Amino acid sequence: MVVILTLDQARTFKTMKTPYEILGESGVKALASAFYDVMDEMTEAEEIRAMHAANLDEIKRKLANYLIGWMGGPPVYQAVTGTVCLTDPHAPYHIGPRQRDQWLACMDAALERIDASDELKTMLKTPMFQVAEAVRNQNESEPKPLDPNMIAIG
Ligand code: HEM
Repeated sequence: MVVILTLDQARTFKTMKTPYEILGESGVKALASAFYDVMDEMTEAEEIRAMHAANLDEIKRKLANYLIGWMGGPPVYQAVTGTVCLTDPHAPYHIGPRQRDQWLACMDAALERIDASDELKTMLKTPMFQVAEAVRNQNESEPKPLDPNMIAIG
């Protein structure tokens, strides 16, 4: 298939930077670190903070590696895990619309904290929603209470 671009389209294409090119590796690492610092501090994110370990160093590193590839940089997360699919690591957690929105609120605040440009924030808005929506594994926000008739075995 031959794609014909107008000069303006070609120019936009040529100069358009990926989020990774805008932030650089250190910027993506700063974003991942700010993200979990915000989660740690934000009262509205207490519910998802409680899903994570007390020490956030390891998860900061994993998120940075993931975002480096996702934002157009080298596939460092994939090189370690063999996949970029986030379904399995999130499967043990109840992630409904409210939990997704808490995650996105942390990301918005983290972008503010690293002083991201309006261009970058606009660029990330829809794809960030889409990836968070893909991680959502429940339709309901409220986790179901454990069935009192269930008997634990083992
Ligand atoms: C939608 C709401 C989300 C919630 C509530 C959530 C929560 C979690 C939790 C509880 C873990 C495990 C933490 C641990 O092992 O200590 C985790 C792991 C992870 N999350 Fe999320 N997450 C969400 C969305 C996302 C999104 C949108 C991304 C990527 C853009 C992401 C990237 C990751 C990565 C890379 C890991 C590490 C997976 C691994 O062990 O390799 N998460 N998340």
